[in-house]
Amino acid sequence: MFIALSTFTIANDMAAQVKEAFVNRPHLVDSAPGFVRMEVLSPQDNPAEIWLLTYWTDEDSYSVWYKNHMRESHQDVPKGLKLVPKSTKVRFFEHVGA
Ligand code: HEM
Repeated sequence: MFIALSTFTIANDMAAQVKEAFVNRPHLVDSAPGFVRMEVLSPQDNPAEIWLLTYWTDEDSYSVWYKNHMRESHQDVPKGLKLVPKSTKVRFFEHVGA
């Protein structure tokens, strides 16, 4: 299994709207080949931070989705959202155990 962790920090007062957008997310990714599941987390010590974990059967499935469908999955990102500069990071993981 392959996991992508995407993190970013919201700079303006739109954290609640961003979280709402994740609750109502478009679910387009759910039917992407190789998609397993996702989790959206926000740390208690910084509620403006979002941690988005997507689980895939393999890295190629993630890459194909990222290249071709990332844009349409983000069409409803709240307008006016500002991120802390350079706060956006994507890291990749192997799944070691559960
Ligand atoms: C710059 C940083 C990013 C921001 C601000 C952001 C924001 C959001 C928001 C607000 C949503 C909720 C759905 C919507 O409104 O469309 C969403 C969905 C999603 N994002 Fe991001 N995102 C970012 C980067 C990424 C990255 C790098 C990935 C890939 C690892 C990613 C993967 C996803 C996925 C899989 C969904 C769910 C889409 C669906 O349900 O089809 N995002 N994102």
